[in-house]
Amino acid sequence: MDNLNDILEAIKTASIQIQHLIAHGDKGKSEQQNSTGDTQLKLDIASDVIIEDIFASVPSIKQIVSEEQDEIKYLHDNGEYLIAYDPLDGSSLVDVNLAVGSIYGIYKNDFNGANIIASVYVVFGPRVEMVVCDGKKVELFRVQSDNSFKYIKDLVLNQTGKINSPGSTQQCWYPHHKAMIEDMFKDGYILSYSGGMVPDLHHILLNGGGLFSYPGATDKPKGKLRQLFEVFPFALIFQTAKGDAIDGQKSLLEVPTTHIHDTAPCFFGSNKEIDIVKKYYAKR
Ligand code: F6P
Ligand code: MG
Repeated sequence: MDNLNDILEAIKTASIQIQHLIAHGDKGKSEQQNSTGDTQLKLDIASDVIIEDIFASVPSIKQIVSEEQDEIKYLHDNGEYLIAYDPLDGSSLVDVNLAVGSIYGIYKNDFNGANIIASVYVVFGPRVEMVVCDGKKVELFRVQSDNSFKYIKDLVLNQTGKINSPGSTQQCWYPHHKAMIEDMFKDGYILSYSGGMVPDLHHILLNGGGLFSYPGATDKPKGKLRQLFEVFPFALIFQTAKGDAIDGQKSLLEVPTTHIHDTAPCFFGSNKEIDIVKKYYAKR
């Protein structure tokens, strides 16, 4: 990850500032909505500004696009990397003091699943942790009292886990999806769902397995989670950690992106749970 070091350092600097913002910043709503129609919190906007300002001084970054913005921004013509990021995923959870996170997907050539080369996410919970994936390994770091990031361990999933983390509104689930989730609970899986994608997926990665799903449903046939900012970065992490990430059938990184804010139904997990998804989704 040597040639990505400047980007990683920029993410660390931004994360320490965002951590401070979460703890002490203004938690109110802004007057604006983002491209997907969510009312932006002042925290979303302030985190976005922090990241953009820091990325603007990194020469290797060619383009950036944020979940909070409508368009790609061009930074450095000679840069090599394109970064899509969600500055503060799950930001409405800050008010109830639950964990939130930032997600970064690093791409080459254009913003597409096939072109993601690295991803990083940061969880702001009781501790601040960062997970870095370069497509070869997935590494966990933890913020220390001097604001440095200490390497803790590599993350590798087991073949199977216990956690079932089912997103979206149950009332709107298609019958095959409902049957799958219910059968998993009958088979002994335990529920874990905070409503924050970053801590929910972090829980599965640190526990060594399980399933997180955000399916297509009657209210949102293409799911809710955004491909470039949320889905592809975690897909790279789960695949590299020896688990898998699919849209129901195929690998999520094969899903084409036609617009920067496209969403995709998504399933992240260890291999046994992803096989369960494939079985139920093939029957549909
Ligand atoms: O960015 C979207 C998000 O906040 C994710 O962090 C989370 O997984 C999802 O929405 C939760 O959505 P829902 O409340 O519909 O389950
Ligand atoms: Mg988000």
